[in-house]
Amino acid sequence: MSSRSAPAPVSDRFGRPLGSLRLSVTDRCNLRCQYCMPEEEYVWLPRKDLLSFDETAFVVERFAALGVRKLRITGGEPLIRRHLPELVRLVSVVPGIEDVALTTNGILLAGQAAALKEAGLHRITVSLDTLRPDRFRSLTRRDGLDAVREGITAANAAGLRPLKLDTVVIRGFNDDELVDLFEFASDQGGEIRFIEYMDVGGATGWRPDLVFDADAIRALMARRYGGVEAVPVEDPTAPARRYRIPDGRVFGIIASVSEPFCRACDRSRVTADGRWFRCLYAPDGLDLRAPLRAGASAAEMEALIASTWSGRQDRGAEERAALDQRTPLVAAGDLRKDPHLEMHTRGG
Ligand code: GTP
Ligand code: 5AD
Ligand code: SF4
Repeated sequence: MSSRSAPAPVSDRFGRPLGSLRLSVTDRCNLRCQYCMPEEEYVWLPRKDLLSFDETAFVVERFAALGVRKLRITGGEPLIRRHLPELVRLVSVVPGIEDVALTTNGILLAGQAAALKEAGLHRITVSLDTLRPDRFRSLTRRDGLDAVREGITAANAAGLRPLKLDTVVIRGFNDDELVDLFEFASDQGGEIRFIEYMDVGGATGWRPDLVFDADAIRALMARRYGGVEAVPVEDPTAPARRYRIPDGRVFGIIASVSEPFCRACDRSRVTADGRWFRCLYAPDGLDLRAPLRAGASAAEMEALIASTWSGRQDRGAEERAALDQRTPLVAAGDLRKDPHLEMHTRGG
């Protein structure tokens, strides 16, 4: 039992608390989705820089002490990280952490769902952009749709609930599959969220005309189902707004391009090598690994995190939305110079 008194929860310059932490456990991925990793070659984080599980758990404890209640494990593809259930076991018992979720592409999920559940994982979100094998191959440059479907079945069988499916909608690519994907999610007992294609780091092929926006999604679903109505907001910090169709079923839209939600953003991200980003769009983050490995105490780390968060003014998506002309956030050459700029390093 520690004798020091608990630090107070901390808020940023806009009064936003530290509520949710996204923990990337690897920058690598076994797919090459066009919206995230369209290039042929990538520069990876050096392995020696990756936080060990004990280091990661120490970091999570510091954030939890400052108010974080929700933890999401991301990548790259988190299931590539060896022995991941051991990390889940450590972080799921951190005092204060109430919700432990994981975002995966589902390829390796069938083999790991039961172990993850047993280790303490509460729920998962599976990325699924198409139900057509040929499209899956052209989007991800790998085969694997069957494996993803098996993964979803296994997650359900393991009791990882509620199940969410995330679809990045790209105009002219998969906007004709929204109804099929919604029906599939509903057959699986899951909730689908349609995500606007974002101009984040790594999305070098992004163009404004490829965004199939929230208005278009609502219109399409209303046409097919005879109307959509907004569900009253339960959690104002959640990126997804939820909509109900007349038969009662619900879907979500994450409209980070056309209706950014920075105002209530309580999320931050720690990369696999311990860099802490206070916004998906932030050009740089704070290195937590150096003080950690230099032997900083729990109180010192908490003071560092608290003082940094209290100065936070990020509202990246809102700033992007205010631009007259939008092009990809970062050029491919700059991404190669610093892998931390990549979405797959920061975690989605
Ligand atoms: P829960 O509500 O906890 O289930 O998770 P979530 O809604 O935060 O969803 P998830 O983690 O699955 O995020 C889905 C996608 O939304 C991400 O992959 C991003 O594309 C986008 N997203 C999530 N958080 C943010 C954010 O803070 N800013 C922006 N701009 N986009 C985000
Ligand atoms: N636009 C929107 N979402 C993205 N993701 C990655 N890149 C993008 C992008 N350019 C998110 C998706 C995906 C998760 C792994 O990361 O939600 O499902
Ligand atoms: Fe939060 Fe940045 Fe996303 Fe806005 S763009 S919601 S501030 S992470």
